Amino acid sequence: MENNRSSWGSNIGFLLAAIGSAVGLGNIWGFPHKMGKSGGFTFLIIYLLLAVFVGLIVMVSELAIGRKTKLSPIDAYKQVSKKFKWIGWLATIAPFMIMSFYTVLGGYVMQYMALNLAELSFGITATGMDSFVAILVNPFGAVVFTIIFIVICMLIVQGGVSGGIEKFNKVGMPALFVMLIVIIIRSLTLPNAVEGLKFMFIPGYSVAKGYIAEAPDIISVLGTAGGQMFFSLSLAMGAILTYGSYLSKEENLVKNSVIIVAADTLIALLAGLAVIPAAISYNISNGVAPGDMMIGGPKLLFVTLQDVFANMGKIGPLFGVIFYALVLIAAISSAISLMETVGAHWIDKDLAKGETDTRKKIILIVSLLILVEAVVVAWDGLGSNNIHPAVLLGISGPVPDVLADWLDFMDTFSEYLLMPLGAMLMALMIGWETGPKDVLDEVGHGNHSTGFAKFYTVCVKFIVPIVMAFVLAGSLRGNCGGSPALWYAISGVLLVGFWIFAAVGNKKTAEE
Ligand code: PHE
Repeated sequence: MENNRSSWGSNIGFLLAAIGSAVGLGNIWGFPHKMGKSGGFTFLIIYLLLAVFVGLIVMVSELAIGRKTKLSPIDAYKQVSKKFKWIGWLATIAPFMIMSFYTVLGGYVMQYMALNLAELSFGITATGMDSFVAILVNPFGAVVFTIIFIVICMLIVQGGVSGGIEKFNKVGMPALFVMLIVIIIRSLTLPNAVEGLKFMFIPGYSVAKGYIAEAPDIISVLGTAGGQMFFSLSLAMGAILTYGSYLSKEENLVKNSVIIVAADTLIALLAGLAVIPAAISYNISNGVAPGDMMIGGPKLLFVTLQDVFANMGKIGPLFGVIFYALVLIAAISSAISLMETVGAHWIDKDLAKGETDTRKKIILIVSLLILVEAVVVAWDGLGSNNIHPAVLLGISGPVPDVLADWLDFMDTFSEYLLMPLGAMLMALMIGWETGPKDVLDEVGHGNHSTGFAKFYTVCVKFIVPIVMAFVLAGSLRGNCGGSPALWYAISGVLLVGFWIFAAVGNKKTAEE
């Protein structure tokens, strides 16, 4: 039956698909705005360090577990661990929850593309704020575009691993890259673009010039950068594990991981270059004071940038269409990996029963389930339409972000709780329960004496779990409010508790 399991057509096809999963809204929207909010350069350095010491390690681990077991997350974790067999469920529920808002954001991006096309054709101009408000308070439109987005993803994933996902990425990724370069050239040739470069690359510049009121403390930057890095690399979400499970034994997992991490980070930086100088240039030309620019924060993509394009003269909307089209490709290439991860479990189950032809049906059901949760998020319109969690819970007055709208709620649960927790648990499992040997064998460094094997072992045993506990605390504190000490205490207890749970009572396996 194993012979009937899907596989990639080629290593380059796998790489483009994995890069496609990684490159998404997280790179083009999240990275620039979080970098903006966290004051530019410091964020960048911490991000890069985390990508090497944590991201790369988790990437290698997930690919190895996937390829070794040739199973989707739920069954893969069952096979490798006695104690942590349930992590696979976290890695399947989280992508399902992420799809609830990823598809809605994909729908918004389509609406902006349509808007810019209309501007191009009819010569109207729409400001960012007006357009965004109009989109948010129109639940019907949001739902329709969300459905279109889900249907596109469904059709691609129904096409299969090499016949759908790989094919889409082989065309989509190069196209995205070319479009990004076009936008960067435009952005960097705008007046005062240099100010954007300084913002990004000169340490302390954003605070000194008043773009942000004060430098965030290093722990919050760690939380933000760590969460962002994980989300952006599609880690601890089952996606990379699932993609790894379709990869052939011949391919080099370490090299592939380095390429994926490097490409994703490069695209995030390029997206920063496309977005930040343009946004700052537009604001300076309009006499906006640095402190009032919306460089840091989620409005960047849908408000600030729409204004940038609307004010570029006649040709502006053309850049708008190109930009939102590239964001759309990025969103689709990520969403299909999430959808595949959720569906793969049931596809594998059917395969085990000898039923080889059920992908289309399973993906249809998964899409319908995603549609149900996505309609709630779409209708909610970021809390604009009075159905957000706080209203339903009957809480009035100021509420923490997590309860203010459904998107934040789903995002906090999946991206800020399940993801760091999942990564921490996976590292503890590999480092202290099963031992790093299995992963190292799978990646071909089984004799433990290579530089990589030593680096991997130290990172997976110590660095990843500890960093993940900080990321968990930092991101929960950022989203749920309350006292920082409380969140650090909770994360610390979880870390120590699971550390002991992983390490105690399995001497035999550790010594093997
Ligand atoms: N990496 C994607 C992004 O940057 C999101 C994603 C997360 C995709 C987890 C798959 C799994 O937007």
